[in-house]
Amino acid sequence: MTSTHVSRVLPGRTAGEVYGVARDLDLLPHWAHGLAEGDLTRDGDRLVLDSPMGRVQVRFAPLNAYGVLDHDVTLPDGTVVANPLRVLPHPDGAELVFTLRPLGRPEAEVAADAVLVAADLERLEALVARVAAGEGPVTTPPAPSSDLWDEEDARTYDDACADLSTPQALGPTLDLLEGLAEGGSVLELAVDTGRVAIPLAERGLAVSGIELSAPMIDRLHEKRPDLPVVVGDMATATAPGCGTFSLVYLVFNTIGNLRTQAEQVACFANAARHLRPGGRFVVELWLPPLRKLPPGQEAVPFDVGDEHLGFDTYDVVTQQGTSHHYTRETDGRFRYGTSNFRYVWPAELDLMAALAGLTLERRTADFAGAPYTGESTSHVSVWRTAG
Ligand SMILES: C[S@@+](CC[C@H](N)C(=O)[O-])C[C@H]1O[C@@H](n2cnc3c(N)ncnc32)[C@H](O)[C@@H]1O
Repeated sequence: MTSTHVSRVLPGRTAGEVYGVARDLDLLPHWAHGLAEGDLTRDGDRLVLDSPMGRVQVRFAPLNAYGVLDHDVTLPDGTVVANPLRVLPHPDGAELVFTLRPLGRPEAEVAADAVLVAADLERLEALVARVAAGEGPVTTPPAPSSDLWDEEDARTYDDACADLSTPQALGPTLDLLEGLAEGGSVLELAVDTGRVAIPLAERGLAVSGIELSAPMIDRLHEKRPDLPVVVGDMATATAPGCGTFSLVYLVFNTIGNLRTQAEQVACFANAARHLRPGGRFVVELWLPPLRKLPPGQEAVPFDVGDEHLGFDTYDVVTQQGTSHHYTRETDGRFRYGTSNFRYVWPAELDLMAALAGLTLERRTADFAGAPYTGESTSHVSVWRTAG
């Protein structure tokens, strides 16, 4: 008994960008046959189709950096059909390979299926081209758990970060990122108003970004209109050039803005699929000062002054935290604001990296390269894809 392999080579495409489009559940009805005829809903990581024949469910292999797009289809009678689908790098671009197993069916039936699959892969190729050209269908992926940064945040962010944005403060960050990029293109996740991305682009690197908050992007584009930014969730969004970046970076503790472990894992996978072989992913992240929490206490102050009082509260069971800020306004009154995060240890990040096919290359306490020790309060970690 042999299987039939339906292959399609997509010239000029990277495996990463094809994976990104094919793995997007919201785009599935645009290329996979049979999914356009019924009511589609999302149930977590499953796509559910209520068709006249009954309920059909599709579940893909978890996000990964290996181009594995295997998916199980559960038919109305409960039968589960495994559909192995891979996207592979190809000398001319990327190659999709779908495996059809006869499973006791007559040859003619398998041949008919192969025709349908070939048509699916052809539609998928056209869809990848449309997405790359910025003409893809509009989809509404589920909202991430991150707090959404609004107009007011965008208006005040640059002033609030002025001390962290001077050439002296940013110098070591830019030096390290520039060196790690080795002249290749760079993607910043959560690019905000361009605090790091703009000076990095000014060093001559091709920098793009992914950012959830449209007002933050507007502010960035007021300063640097030509810096390409995709509006979306850094755990799922696809930037043009996916699969070709030398460097993806996520700094200033921002992985913590994704408040579930699943989203943080997905963020690593998303970073990995944007990288070229041998590319690097850099994360800058603080270490929560849990040693300052005596038994029974939930809050740690981090800034106590006349103008600002800041403290963090922690739930050490769920790894959730909230930063609380009381900031004095010009009229003397105090404004209260919060931001929420999930804290995560370096070892857990290393596991997320391993799940995404990345290997730790270096870990230092800061961008200048200070050794990472048991007393470090934050770390800069660099992982690499194979190749
Ligand atoms: C602390 S700032 C980011 C740090 C910034 N890169 C810097 O170095 O100044 C938080 C930014 O992350 C963005 N953000 C938060 N969650 C996000 C997500 N899931 N996807 C993309 N951007 C996100 C926010 O909109 C905001 O612009």
